[in-house]
Amino acid sequence: MKLFEDKFKLFFNDLVLQKFKDECLLKSRDAFAVKNGNIPKWTSALDEINAFKKGDLDLNEPYISIKNIGASSDTIEASLKKLLPWRKGPYILNDLKLESEWLGDLKWQRLKNKIKPLHNKRVLDVGAGNGYFTMRMALEGAKQAIGVEPFLLFNYQYAAIDALFKNNLNSILLPLRLEELPNMPVFDSVFSMGVLYHQRDHMEHLSLLKKMMSPESELILETLIVDGPKNFKLTPEGRYANMRNVYCLPSIETLKSWLDDADFKNIEVIDISQTTPTEQRKTSWIGDNPASLEDFLHPSDSSLTIEGYPAPKRAIVICKN
Ligand SMILES: C[S@@+](CC[C@H](N)C(=O)[O-])C[C@H]1O[C@@H](n2cnc3c(N)ncnc32)[C@H](O)[C@@H]1O
Repeated sequence: MKLFEDKFKLFFNDLVLQKFKDECLLKSRDAFAVKNGNIPKWTSALDEINAFKKGDLDLNEPYISIKNIGASSDTIEASLKKLLPWRKGPYILNDLKLESEWLGDLKWQRLKNKIKPLHNKRVLDVGAGNGYFTMRMALEGAKQAIGVEPFLLFNYQYAAIDALFKNNLNSILLPLRLEELPNMPVFDSVFSMGVLYHQRDHMEHLSLLKKMMSPESELILETLIVDGPKNFKLTPEGRYANMRNVYCLPSIETLKSWLDDADFKNIEVIDISQTTPTEQRKTSWIGDNPASLEDFLHPSDSSLTIEGYPAPKRAIVICKN
């Protein structure tokens, strides 16, 4: 599969990651080989993008920026809109602003000066979405930033952005779940952002994250929380803020106790933020009938979700292996 194999071989030019590489290559090939009726459309978007003269990657906060792409904004937009919905970003491509649903830079600013520097480090980004943050990690100078994300569309989005620039960025996105990775304690920083509440078994997720961490490694965990005392947690019935598969939202003290039980050390809460419609917003890059957080909050009380649960609040916790 041309989508990722060219980059894959260059990227894993690393003896430590040799075993990791071989297993991931086989599993990634299988993941891309599934039947999905959207693949012809997504492939045509990539073919169009691959024909453009490649541009220059840079950071123009809040955007990941690519200048000097050899195509008009209308042409770039038409190709990228074959890959809707764009949840994560934003990007600026020549003059075209790809305003994704999430203004990802806000999350990055909350944590970037509080984590161990990523320069020259091996970094794992679990549940990476379309790899916006994986690219931000590589732009911080990571030696290797590996994102894993099982949802195929997001892998095509990553490939589309990656194909727009000619720079060598040390990042890759693989179409895999954390559970599919060989357990290898080789990463200096492991990120799990927006993933824990999607797990049926949150302790299993924490334990698998730990297995990927080198002895001096740091975990950066971002997740939904609710107000409440130690041991309090919310288990939504049905959807939460319109999201499916939200299993368990702990209080901050409960979250700390989970991390403690999973044997993490130096547990430090670096941020707690209410999620606002400025950060998760309705844009034309979601699709024709966009709906976002403002539609998922209670019409008469924005402190609640439409289902009547406390509105989304997120914590970022850093801890050591
Ligand atoms: C809410 S998104 C978060 C994306 C990004 N990390 C961020 O912070 O914006 C969660 C992503 O995690 C992925 N995911 C869920 N369970 C996963 C698992 N066990 N391993 C890897 N990815 C997972 C989902 O497919 C989804 O795209």
